[in-house]
Amino acid sequence: MKISNSKKEFSRAQKVLVGGVNSPVRAFKKVGGTPLVMSRGRGAKFYDVDGNAYTDYCLSWGALILGHAHKEVVAAVHKALKNGISYGTTTKAEIDLAQTITQHIPSIDLIRFVNSGTEAVMSAIRLARGYTSRNKVLKFDGCYHGHCDDLLTTAGSGVAFLASSTSRGVPPAHVQNTLSIPYNDTQEFFNIIERHRKELACVIIEPVAGNMGVVLPKKGFLRTLRELTHKHSIILIFDEVMTGFRTNFGGAQADWGIRPDLTCLGKIIGGGFPIGAYGGRRDIMKRLAPLGDVYQAGTFSGNPVVMAAGVATLKNLNSRLYKQINDTAEHFTKDTNAFFKECHVPAHFSAYKGMMSLRFRQSEVYDYSSAQAASSGVLYAKLFHHLLKNGIYWPPADWEAFFISSAHTLSDLKYLRNKIVEFFKAK
Ligand SMILES: Cc1ncc(COP(=O)(O)O)c(C=O)c1O
Repeated sequence: MKISNSKKEFSRAQKVLVGGVNSPVRAFKKVGGTPLVMSRGRGAKFYDVDGNAYTDYCLSWGALILGHAHKEVVAAVHKALKNGISYGTTTKAEIDLAQTITQHIPSIDLIRFVNSGTEAVMSAIRLARGYTSRNKVLKFDGCYHGHCDDLLTTAGSGVAFLASSTSRGVPPAHVQNTLSIPYNDTQEFFNIIERHRKELACVIIEPVAGNMGVVLPKKGFLRTLRELTHKHSIILIFDEVMTGFRTNFGGAQADWGIRPDLTCLGKIIGGGFPIGAYGGRRDIMKRLAPLGDVYQAGTFSGNPVVMAAGVATLKNLNSRLYKQINDTAEHFTKDTNAFFKECHVPAHFSAYKGMMSLRFRQSEVYDYSSAQAASSGVLYAKLFHHLLKNGIYWPPADWEAFFISSAHTLSDLKYLRNKIVEFFKAK
């Protein structure tokens, strides 16, 4: 496979961009080799600057549920662009997107758009602190909520691979109010609530974790969080930046039947454009400026082009499409897991329908330490390059979830399965 143009472009990138990238995991540090420089995408495939085609399972880190350059999303963006790019005023498109989201997610009475998932989380936490007049935040080990200072402790995704699992440059004062406990550990949750219930502003969780690979909440875990936070007037925040609109219209909260106080969204709701949003209970959201005394603002928040892409994306989602994505993914994971079992390969897919990750052992992964035990940097890197050579693009780090879109076909997934089987059989 010729990648000389990618090599040339990446060496140019390294001279002007930090590490040649604008987000660390793109640099292939976990898998080695030269990061590919992409030039265009259509449907389930994208193409590098050498003209090689790849079936994309990274999908802009989960944002592209309809695949690349979906016709109706592109048309909506063109139409919005022709009218103008940014006004810094209220527009119809942002009302439309807000209405669509609030109709589908009943826990959201009012919503505020921002420009990234990080910004959504950072703002939701400020709001929770303002509303409760308390300072402490409880998170769970291995959950990643973006790169805001307060939550960069024992975080998943790229942060997990920093030497101290916490970024330098975060003053101790910024994390002194952050508590972090193991995911799915109900007893530890009881303990921490018992100790800190009067100081806790909020509990924030990925209701299905996606940043230490995919980890599902154990039966009753989310309900326990809901009951105890409610009892002690602690705000429960679901970070659904990754899970929002992923498997159904209502997010993981619909699948588990839990109503959080606040929800953070991003990725899918922007159709591939930069976006974040947070919303929830009316009485809490009304504490935000201009109605209330918690400040948060943004020059580009609710940008009309972004909103148009979001509206067009959500318009194209329907229960038939979700069924197709979910069934295709479930068929793939079941089938490949059966191969792992039959052939005694120490691996399995942990999955939340179309959001999946590969574990390098058979036993269940339910928290950060079991995710660490099931991680295999070297083997993953070899598999990544085997797939890449065969025209398949997976996330370049084994803790990043991979996704499928409505553009992926059963035969795409069959091909992926065959290439995985081929890899493990040759070992
Ligand atoms: C669960 C979760 N929250 C927050 C974020 C941060 O979003 P962004 O990268 O848009 O800032 C991410 C990013 O992957 C995420 O997965």
